[in-house]
Amino acid sequence: MKDMLKKLDETVEFLKSKIDFAPEIAIILGSGLGKLADFIKDAKVIPYEDIPNFPETTVAGHEGKLIFGTINNRKVVAMKGRFHYYEGNEMGAVVYPIRVFKRLGIENLIVTNAAGGVNTSFKPGDLMLITDHISLFCENPLRGENIDDLGPRFPDMTVAYDRNLRTLALESAGRLGVDLKSGVYSYCKGPSYESPAEIKALRNLGADAVGMSTVPETITARHMGMRVLGISCITNMAAGILDQPLNHAEVMETGKRVEKMFSALVSDIIENWR
Ligand code: HPA
Repeated sequence: MKDMLKKLDETVEFLKSKIDFAPEIAIILGSGLGKLADFIKDAKVIPYEDIPNFPETTVAGHEGKLIFGTINNRKVVAMKGRFHYYEGNEMGAVVYPIRVFKRLGIENLIVTNAAGGVNTSFKPGDLMLITDHISLFCENPLRGENIDDLGPRFPDMTVAYDRNLRTLALESAGRLGVDLKSGVYSYCKGPSYESPAEIKALRNLGADAVGMSTVPETITARHMGMRVLGISCITNMAAGILDQPLNHAEVMETGKRVEKMFSALVSDIIENWR
């Protein structure tokens, strides 16, 4: 475990040598939601492959870069391209960047994702503020010897998604006229989409949306005491709700359709961050 801290320190030292400011907020840009990167001023772009100890991107053609800069005068770093478990990454690799962010001194994390709508009152294109998550189907990223320097053995998840940040997000949505839904995000491993029976089961468990990311990152951030804000883009109705098969093209199309609204929302949230 000393090894892990050493690796993190190497990564952090490298990043500090490349930037001359300390970001306040880290943002994970979900698939199809990369437009926010265009809002980043004075951007300093660092490809993942240049960063010591950073996981390798396994998917050909997948963008992978950290973008340091400012949004509305707030110093941020955005991850364009995240590491998914379904790509074959170990959980330690999936959450490595989050640990790097914390050791860079960042206390705030915004996680975004594309998700299937499980709540039948949702429609594709809706944005959903994550109020809580279901991690039951997720290998826990904290499994193994605890790294006491990062956080406690048994971290609390009672309020994983910060209440004040949720209020802030709802205020921003109100200002912009965005009908921001709220709900519970359930993790599934993927890469196959869920079956209709699984979606029915998830709904009975209390899920409003389902996706293949975010939960490992949130657990890891909470382990280290970071504040987390999560927003899903409902890109499609989950399996079995509509009489049609799911496909990745629909997910990407919906992401593209709403990415302007989504970017405006996150930008306003960052402007009013407190
Ligand atoms: N299921 C899981 N992950 C997803 C979905 C879905 O329906 N849509 C976008 N990501």
